[in-house]
Amino acid sequence: MEELSPRPGDLEAIETASRDEIATLQLGRMKWSLGHAYEHSRFYRTHFDAAGIHPSDLTSLSDIAKFPFTTKQDLRDTYPFGMFAVPRERLVRIHASSGTTGKPTVVGYTQRDVDTWADLVARSIRAAGGRRGDLVHVAYGYGLFTGGLGAHYGAERMGCTVVPMSGGMTERQVTLIEDFRPRVIMVTPSYMLSILDEYRRQGFDPRQSSLAVGIFGAEPWTNAMRQEIEQSFDMHAVDIYGLSEVMGPGVANECVETKDGLHVWEDHFYPEIIDPETGDVLPDGEMGELVFTTLTKEGLPIIRYRTRDLTRLLPGTARSMRRMEKITGRSDDMIILRGVNVFPTQIEEQILRCRGLAPHFQIELSRSGRMDTMTVHVECTAESADENARAACAQTLAHSIKNVVGVTATIAIRDPGSVPRSEGKAKRVVDHRPKA
Ligand code: DLL
Repeated sequence: MEELSPRPGDLEAIETASRDEIATLQLGRMKWSLGHAYEHSRFYRTHFDAAGIHPSDLTSLSDIAKFPFTTKQDLRDTYPFGMFAVPRERLVRIHASSGTTGKPTVVGYTQRDVDTWADLVARSIRAAGGRRGDLVHVAYGYGLFTGGLGAHYGAERMGCTVVPMSGGMTERQVTLIEDFRPRVIMVTPSYMLSILDEYRRQGFDPRQSSLAVGIFGAEPWTNAMRQEIEQSFDMHAVDIYGLSEVMGPGVANECVETKDGLHVWEDHFYPEIIDPETGDVLPDGEMGELVFTTLTKEGLPIIRYRTRDLTRLLPGTARSMRRMEKITGRSDDMIILRGVNVFPTQIEEQILRCRGLAPHFQIELSRSGRMDTMTVHVECTAESADENARAACAQTLAHSIKNVVGVTATIAIRDPGSVPRSEGKAKRVVDHRPKA
């Protein structure tokens, strides 16, 4: 793998600024953002008034904890445009997230917001090892999802040549990667695995591909998955994080030279970690729910948005800005099985440790009597498809899930190619339990 690190002069001044400089910038911007939200969004004025708090009550960054949280439900309640802080005519773009139930959540951007977004995705691509002049293959979905267009504008801003492939048509993805020879790919990690399968199916050696850097996000993935992808393609696999309500991809990104968690672009987003039960702010280093306040967004300022994503904040390394550890999972995706909390990422980690298993899996939850049961459907590799090898894999995996994760799971070893493939965000859990 090519050794990559930023070239002198490549970084923006703020990326290596002192913590004091960052905090000063944040405080000024936070005051602006609270004032803007209060003055121009009816939602925030009502919300702050009801909590008996005014933007002028903020004199230090930690005062943000006095302000009420914003939730996905607030966006639903004000559907479609009720939270915006500018007249609709000033919005140049709308995105929406599908959501599993009910109405989508709608977000909107002014020209300045779209510009900031492109700048931050460009910064993310550079952190991941991308360079001006690279060919970038974007296989995140284009459309209401923020992945495709977010990556696209950032790559253009970076001075790259963009291939706006979008998700799906996997055969064609491989043809275009082979023919156009991109250095960078931006895609969900689970779809990268589908592309890997297709590479092998077409008889190409993925290690010989032109890809040197993959910028993977939009769903949780583990360091074990990073190794799997890096080894399979002989490329760097770097994590990008974001969410529509806060912006889209590029809220935080890993640096290729350290790969030790994602630097939050703190000049535009103020992160907090809270105890999801009590809402109390937790100190850096403690695990909890990630909360964001936007510092510069005009169209849809977001104050203390509860992401439901679980992680912890760590000090900066390759950059001055704090890091968030790779996301363990969303609190919504946490499986509670007979009193034990389980995240799909924990199962992924164990599967990838087990020789003879492919990284394609789905977790099925059922109820028999009063007992909840978990079945892990996972594929064997073509080399381990005989009955003895399958039985051995099933036993090893059941053991490690029991020992490391702490739950009993039934393991169903499936034929290669039989677990549903992802074209975007993978569906890891199928829940057949009756709804309470
Ligand atoms: O997934 C934005 C995005 C697009 C990020 C492309 C990265 C790359 P939403 O559809 O609103 O936006 O979903 C946001 O996806 O709250 C997390 O639960 C999850 N997520 C996003 N990035 C990561 C990541 C986009 N790197 C939700 N690791 C978030 C883990 C992630 N989970």
